[in-house]
Amino acid sequence: SIIRHYKFNVVMTNTTKLCSSKPIVTVNGKFPGPTIVAREDDTLLIKVVNHVNYNVSIHWHGIRQLRTGWADGPAYITQCPIQPGQNYLHNFTLTGQRGTLWWHAHILWLRATVHGAIVILPKLGVPYPFPKPYKEKTIVLGEWWKSDVEELINEASKIGTAPSASDAHTINGHSGSISNCPSQSSYGLPVRAGKTYMLRIINAALNEELFFKIAGHVLTVVEVDAVYTKPYKTDTVFIAPGQTTNVLLTANANAGSNYMVAATTFTDAQIPYDNVTATATLHYIGHTATVSASKKTVLASLPPQNATWIATKFTRSLRSLNSHEYPVRVPTTVDHSLFFTVGLGANPCQSCNNGVRLVAGINNVTFTMPKTALLQAHFFNISGVFTDDFPAKPSNPYDYTAPVKLGVNAATMKGTKLYRLPYNATVQIVLQNTAMILSDNHPFHLHGFNFFEVGRGLRNFNPEKDPKMFNLVDPVERNTVGVPTGGWTAIRFIADNPGVWFMHCHLELHTT
Ligand code: C2O
Repeated sequence: SIIRHYKFNVVMTNTTKLCSSKPIVTVNGKFPGPTIVAREDDTLLIKVVNHVNYNVSIHWHGIRQLRTGWADGPAYITQCPIQPGQNYLHNFTLTGQRGTLWWHAHILWLRATVHGAIVILPKLGVPYPFPKPYKEKTIVLGEWWKSDVEELINEASKIGTAPSASDAHTINGHSGSISNCPSQSSYGLPVRAGKTYMLRIINAALNEELFFKIAGHVLTVVEVDAVYTKPYKTDTVFIAPGQTTNVLLTANANAGSNYMVAATTFTDAQIPYDNVTATATLHYIGHTATVSASKKTVLASLPPQNATWIATKFTRSLRSLNSHEYPVRVPTTVDHSLFFTVGLGANPCQSCNNGVRLVAGINNVTFTMPKTALLQAHFFNISGVFTDDFPAKPSNPYDYTAPVKLGVNAATMKGTKLYRLPYNATVQIVLQNTAMILSDNHPFHLHGFNFFEVGRGLRNFNPEKDPKMFNLVDPVERNTVGVPTGGWTAIRFIADNPGVWFMHCHLELHTT
């Protein structure tokens, strides 16, 4: 294992996309930002230097940070933000993890443009549990707004709705030609006939769950969130914000054609969404001489935007590899059993639309960002920053699939509440999506841990029947899981990483 040094200069960068230019915040001038490549057991020393006029912090999404909670990055949770002109040195070791993860700004709206890939290779001499791919490529999926993201988000947060839908999705920063900007560049994916590639796909979007597909080719999922899975063949990958998915792609189609690569929205909620599909092109090397506008591109048949059945089938098909080398350590007994309702509520407010502001909440608690970082407050015993009375269950259970009247169960209380777990406790959390006000899929992310997704279902969780169906043999292990619209997801993990850890919906406005 070695020590690897990175320097992340956070700077303003003038960028042209969708036929218009604007300054954006980037790391080292790049969108997406630089890729970190390291091996399991390596130590990373990443110096983040803030050259912009915003407070900044950067989170290493999915890195366990075993006993290095100070390096995790979310502003006001584990550290104070890095102020203009200041810097912060993140120092952590990649213990027991290999695969694809990513990094992103973890303050306000900055992660729209401040994000990039983390590639953790296995230890030297340790093979993948599948045939070694000929080459590997990183595919970062994002969103792009023509207008100023800061303004959009500030506007939206006043009333609590999602920011207006983005103007295009991006694949490694390119949207492909779109109707009101046909000259917009495309990402190209050159392949050699007969070779197998590994694509490391990251959903870095602020708001949208995505379908990803490549016309004429089957993809084999081999890893999600930096944990190996049983190989699963599919023509469509479903990926929520925060999640990463490695797939194998064998270039076995007719080499004389080009093939469309596409990323398009999935949503089954009645909310505005970005209906512009990002496209890229796969072509066969050696046949490039014939590539021209006239060469036929095989189009991908895209799922409808509300194809819940495709999203559900994909999610339910993922299984941990559970091999001798990579065993599953899912807790079979539970010390702490929690039930969290997640969804949007509404609070009265003066001087806002209709007198109510939409708010995200868990067990009717809406998180209030403290002014002192929680980990600092905990470590130095500073009182008055948080309370540790986060409710283990909702105070007022009801039928979560039936819409409620405003004001009945919809109001939330504000608080900076923590749930305290003893070291090494085994924990189960059932995340129940509520249909109050708006239903929406919520991709839930837990910092500092991987968890096992032991069950999921539609409608209300049934504490008598549903646990009998839990998968305690080979459940998928990950750091971000979708809680389906009108349904629930159950996760288990061992609280073996001391610290203060954020758990939140990865849709940008739902963290507040
Ligand atoms: Cu991907 Cu709290 O973050």
